[in-house]
Amino acid sequence: MDKNVIHLGVAGFGTVGTGLLKLLSANKDWIYRRLGKKVEVKTILVKDIYKKREFLPPKGIKFTDNMHDIIDDPEIDIVVELIGGTTIARELIKKAILAKKHVVTANKAILAENGRELFELASIQNTALYFEASVGGGIPIIQTLKENISGNKIKSLTGILNGTANFILTKMSQEKLTFENALKIAQEKGFAEADPTLDIEGIDAAHKLIILIMLAYGQNYPINKLTIEGISSIDPYDIQMAKEFGYNIKLIGQVKERSGYLQAGIFPALVPNKHMLAKIDGPFNAILLEGNGVGPIMLYGQGAGDLPTGSAVLSDIMAIVRTTTYNNTGFSNDLIEEAKILEDRYTSYCHYFRFQVEDRPGVLAILAGIMGERNISIAQVVQRQNSQNKYVPVVFLTHKAQLKNVKDAIEEIDKLSFVHPGTKHYRILT
Ligand SMILES: NC(=O)c1ccc[n+]([C@@H]2O[C@H](COP(=O)([O-])OP(=O)(O)OC[C@H]3O[C@@H](n4cnc5c(N)ncnc54)[C@H](OP(=O)(O)O)[C@@H]3O)[C@@H](O)[C@H]2O)c1
Repeated sequence: MDKNVIHLGVAGFGTVGTGLLKLLSANKDWIYRRLGKKVEVKTILVKDIYKKREFLPPKGIKFTDNMHDIIDDPEIDIVVELIGGTTIARELIKKAILAKKHVVTANKAILAENGRELFELASIQNTALYFEASVGGGIPIIQTLKENISGNKIKSLTGILNGTANFILTKMSQEKLTFENALKIAQEKGFAEADPTLDIEGIDAAHKLIILIMLAYGQNYPINKLTIEGISSIDPYDIQMAKEFGYNIKLIGQVKERSGYLQAGIFPALVPNKHMLAKIDGPFNAILLEGNGVGPIMLYGQGAGDLPTGSAVLSDIMAIVRTTTYNNTGFSNDLIEEAKILEDRYTSYCHYFRFQVEDRPGVLAILAGIMGERNISIAQVVQRQNSQNKYVPVVFLTHKAQLKNVKDAIEEIDKLSFVHPGTKHYRILT
């Protein structure tokens, strides 16, 4: 790639595609100064070429709805996939790699589900398949793991990986809103899609965690083996109770390495107020890493949006222009092993429980007894009086206990005649 102009084919001209084009135009001279080459978009692939667009790219760029106008164009060096989803995007990426073109994508879903296949193909073809924008939007987490701290063994990685979920939880916490009302505000402000399922059920965060695990450990962690809990059933009562105990509830993505096994999941957790992740509010993302050399590092920034995400896409394009051999994952020959998984139910955390019980003598002792039988030791108990309802809330905070024992205890307790089933349970981050 020694020509003076690098030609891009950009597939997708929505939020991220527009952000990329804006940056390419605003920072044109700066990019030339850094690369000694011009970076120009030749063709843009969209679904509807007649759609009215708020931002128009510079004149001379061809709009098409046929991906072959990009893939079969010998002048196009880099294909930028910003369509999303796992169907058209997968076809486009595969065809582009087979045509020996370099690929930049922001698509976490496709990498979490088809990453191994695509990286293998790119490695055979010796093409770049770069993906900085796929996790954390503008936060440079991919390059950090691949290059900057690649000599470290990663002990743990804990993050707030979904801005929509974090925005909703922040609103629920600060304004005492219900989940439904906070979601409505997120949708009005453009932080949540009309169909918010991927964000609120933890699936988007799961896609990102799978990618981070691959980069941190060189292992393929199948998404169907990952524990994924979302935020849609979080009750404002528990957010306020958690606050009283000195915690914020956050949707956490976490992986820890324990004697060669990986323990990973997406789950809402009580985060102590003094913990750095407790302070990440609104639509922001943050990732806290612990390397065995560097110690803790936290990266914080805008996890979405046109310019932040466009900035990450642009950094990949510039990295490709600078490089001549391509290592996409930071592991030799892009070899990603199957993950050795420590099943979630055998892992230990501290826990928060909220039981709804009839207010009569002996109830607390029975609950404590059932927990004690399963080695769940109690740290704090709070019971609130409420003469209006038949049931009163009782909150238990526990010391470390295995998730399996916790689930068994909840199952038994929810069957008791004086307990209203549907006990709320969260892990506490320590
Ligand atoms: N939005 C963010 O802040 C953000 C952050 C990080 C990562 N990402 C990732 O970036 C990618 C793009 O997201 P986005 O928010 O920019 O999406 P978007 O606003 O919905 O834009 C999608 C674009 O893809 C085009 N498209 C859809 N189906 C197509 C098809 N069958 N053939 C050709 N073009 C098609 C659309 O064309 P029309 O314009 O004609 O409809 C549109 O231009 C996704 O993988 C997403 O997960 C997004």
